[in-house]
Formats: sequence, C-alpha cells, structure tokens
Amino acid sequence: MARLDVRVRTHLDSNVCYIAREGRPEERVTVRELSLSGALVVGLSTQLSEIFAIKPVLPGKGEVELLAKLVRQGKEGAAVRLFYSDQDTMQALWEHIRDNLPPTDSCPYCRHPDDSREGSCDKCGLYLNFSNKNYLERHIENTFAQRLNIRLSRLNLEHIQKIIQFVDAKLLKVQHRSPDKEFLGTCQGMLSVFSMVRKVAPTEMSVLLLGESGTGKELTARSLHHLSSRRDGPFVAVNCAAIPETLLEAELFGYEKGAFTGAYATKKGKFESADGGTLFLDEIGDLPAALQAKLLRFLEDRLVQPVGSAHSRKIDVRIVAATNCDLQRAMAQGQFRTDLFYRLNSFTIKLPPLRERGEDKVRLARHFLEKFSRSENRFMEFSDEALDAIRNHTWPGNVRELENKVRRGFLMATGRVVDPECMELDQGGPAPVPEADCKPGATQKDYVIKVLEQNGYVIARAARQLNISRPSMYALIKKHGINIDNMK
Ligand SMILES: Nc1ncnc2c1ncn2[C@@H]1O[C@H](COP(=O)(O)OP(=O)(O)O)[C@@H](O)[C@H]1O
Ligand SMILES: [Mg+2]
Repeated sequence: MARLDVRVRTHLDSNVCYIAREGRPEERVTVRELSLSGALVVGLSTQLSEIFAIKPVLPGKGEVELLAKLVRQGKEGAAVRLFYSDQDTMQALWEHIRDNLPPTDSCPYCRHPDDSREGSCDKCGLYLNFSNKNYLERHIENTFAQRLNIRLSRLNLEHIQKIIQFVDAKLLKVQHRSPDKEFLGTCQGMLSVFSMVRKVAPTEMSVLLLGESGTGKELTARSLHHLSSRRDGPFVAVNCAAIPETLLEAELFGYEKGAFTGAYATKKGKFESADGGTLFLDEIGDLPAALQAKLLRFLEDRLVQPVGSAHSRKIDVRIVAATNCDLQRAMAQGQFRTDLFYRLNSFTIKLPPLRERGEDKVRLARHFLEKFSRSENRFMEFSDEALDAIRNHTWPGNVRELENKVRRGFLMATGRVVDPECMELDQGGPAPVPEADCKPGATQKDYVIKVLEQNGYVIARAARQLNISRPSMYALIKKHGINIDNMK
C-alpha cells in the first residue's frame, strides 16, 4: 500500500474537514455525499495521494480512523472509497449517516421514487429498513458481490485462490450451522436438516416437513421464513387439525359478508394475511378432501377465492406444510390426494426423532435448564443420574416432552440440583419417587406463589403455565403450605 502522507480530520456534523499534510498548512475542505462506501471531498487545491487516512469526528462518538482511496479527482471534487479496519468503526459511521439522512421518500441509493422503508428498493434491490438493528449486516450481505467486483481488477491469482479458499471454508461451516441460536443440533441428522434449510430457504419452493410431534417442525418452518427474502413479511401458522372442518375453509380462504349465517362482515383468510410472507400449514394430513383440492389449485395458479365471492385474488405466499402422519399410507387409503402430495413433496425435510440424536438430548436439556434458570434468576444443574436418565429415556414426545420434563425438574428440585425423580424420568434411573418426596426449597415456594399470582390464583391456569396437571398443582400448593384463600 502507498505511504500515508495525508491525515484528514473531519467534523461530520458540519461536514467540514481539514486536510493536514506533512510540511504544509492545514487545508479546509468539505465532505459531501458521505455513504458507507465512499465520499466526495470538495474544495481541495492539490492532488491527494492514492491512499490516505481519514479521521472523522463523529458527534457523540469521538474520532474514528478509516482508510480512504482516491478513485477520481475532477472538477466536482475528489471521489474517495472508504475502507474499514473493524466492524465497530463501520457501525459508528453507519449510525452517523443514518441519523443524518435527509427526510425523503425516494431510495437514498438510486433515487428511485416512493420507496417504502420496510423492505428493499424495487429498483436497485438494496435493503432500506434503516431502523432494523441488523441493517448493516443485511447491507454488507446485499452488496458483497458488488464490493468484491470493485476490487477484482486489482487481485492477482494468489489473492483469488486465497479468497476462494476462505469463502469455501466459511460456506462449509455456515451450511451446517443452525440457522438460529435457539435451534440446537450437532448430530449428523440435525446438521443435514440445517444444511437443507439453508439451501431451500432462499428459493420460492414449497417445503414439506415430516417428523413426529415435538421434533421441531414449526421451528424449522420459522427458520425457512427468516432465511428467505420474505423475512420482513408475515409468518402465519395454521394448525389444520385444530380448526373444525366446517370453519377451516373460511379460516384459510376468508369469506364475503353474507356468505353464510354469521358472516356479518367480510373477513380475510390466512392466505391473504400471509401475503408477501410464509404460510405454515401444520398437520396437513388432516386437511379435508375439498380443501386439499383448493390448496392444490392455489399451488398451481396462486389464486385465492374467498367463500361466497365470485372473484379470485392473486396472493404471493410461500407454503411450508408439515405433518406427523404417514402420508404414503393416507394416499394408499385414498385420504390424501396424490397430486397434492407430489406438489408439496418437491422438497422434503425429515426431522429425526429425539431418541436418534445422541448427545444432543443432553445439550438440549442443558439449554432448557439454562433458559429457565435465567428467566427465574435461579441457577440449577443436573445430577449425573439425571443426565443418564435423559440419555436413556426414549422420548416419545421428543423435544417438546424434554422441555416439559426439564421445566418440571426445575420447579420440583430441591436446592440447586435436578434429579431424575424431579423430572419424573424413570427409564435407566431409579424407580420414580412420588412427587411428595421432592422436598421443595423456599425459592420454589416463591416461584409457585408468583405463578399463582400471575394467574389470578386460578389453579387450572397456573397448572397450564407450569405444564403440570391440576392434581400436581394442588399437591405442590399443599407441600409448600400455601394458603390460597389468605392470598386472594
Ligand atoms: N432443535 C431444537 N432446539 C431447541 N428447541 C427445540 C428444537 N426442536 C424443538 N424445539 C422446541 O420444542 C418445542 C416443540 O417444537 P415444534 O417446532 O413446535 O415441534 P413440532 O412442530 O414438530 O411439533 C418448541 O418449544 C421448540 O422451540
Ligand atoms: Mg407442531
């Protein structure tokens, strides 16, 4: 790199900067059109050297140092490109630029008029949601190819090989990494799930998620949404098994006023609510035949016809469907349309059951215990017996069951250690100990009282929050000697 013989000190609040060079008086110039990638320096009387340091003083943040490279020096001023030594400097400059953006409806990058600040610019495609805390990350990702391209002409073969090796190594890691820090998995089965999620998420393909109940199908659907370009649009989840068949069509497709008794006003369906985003159809195996046909039509022409309406509307929704039932068998029995299955089955991700995830069982258990400990500010750990019981249990309810057992253990444990008995885990461990034998400590009593308070002393509601049965809740109250009547 060329020698740095110029120091530019600039006060960005006034956009005036001073250029100092060895052996010469400071020169007053103006910085115009400051962006993350470059700036225009106006009022310079002499030629700048090729690379120089620029030291902006950011109001409220102090002085930061950037490297600047002269791109062009003409009548309008000197165009310089900016380089950053670290992420903090870039973040500080970005915050300054963001806070000083002139109010305008057009895209600040390409001046395309009327651009909303929610998603990306229709013309240049750059992300414009400046209030998003991850804006800078998204912007760097967005402009990666462009920035690399600018530098390409200066690279020699050795540089190019190094970059390719670096990118490959990063990609290998990223492809297998969980898409979200709350989505855990290190076993082979889960690594391959993460890899598939990363591959298919950015596409527009419909995805079918298979797996037993509680294996993380909904979590996967949310990851697919967050890693897609639809991430700023809505994510709408519908459980097809939870809504009575007679209401499901209206719920999914919406209805017109007067379409049926009780339709007092026109109502949007879930498809329309998910417009621009992702619709997660859970328990798709329970979709009645008539609605299977309607869903198939939607997948073919992307049109939605509300109940009682003569017109269809075009809706831009990506479908992620899930089921824990055996669709092959449902097809053989004529309960699930073969054409719909093949339409949905173009990309399938199968979530492995928890019992096949090896040490992930323990990792997940520790993750949940830590989560509960943090939220209650009461730190707990598993006994060795508890860890063995977690390893040996067959987990028919999968991760959801594990989370519930850990929650139970957290609540019922004596002192700081969670034993298998407190989680009601017996397999591989000693025989289950009746609940009354788990002697609670004072902090647990406080916790139970807090939950009761939060639920207006309604036992059933408190039990639901704790994910335990009503009799267990009564037992817990009795054990702690809590007198609800006195508390109300
Ligand atoms: N790999 C995982 N890491 C962390 N939490 C998980 C994981 N898989 C599932 N969970 C949690 O387990 C519960 C059940 O997951 P969910 O996605 O609703 O399962 P499904 O839709 O298959 O029934 C949720 O609370 C979810 O956050
Ligand atoms: Mg589910």
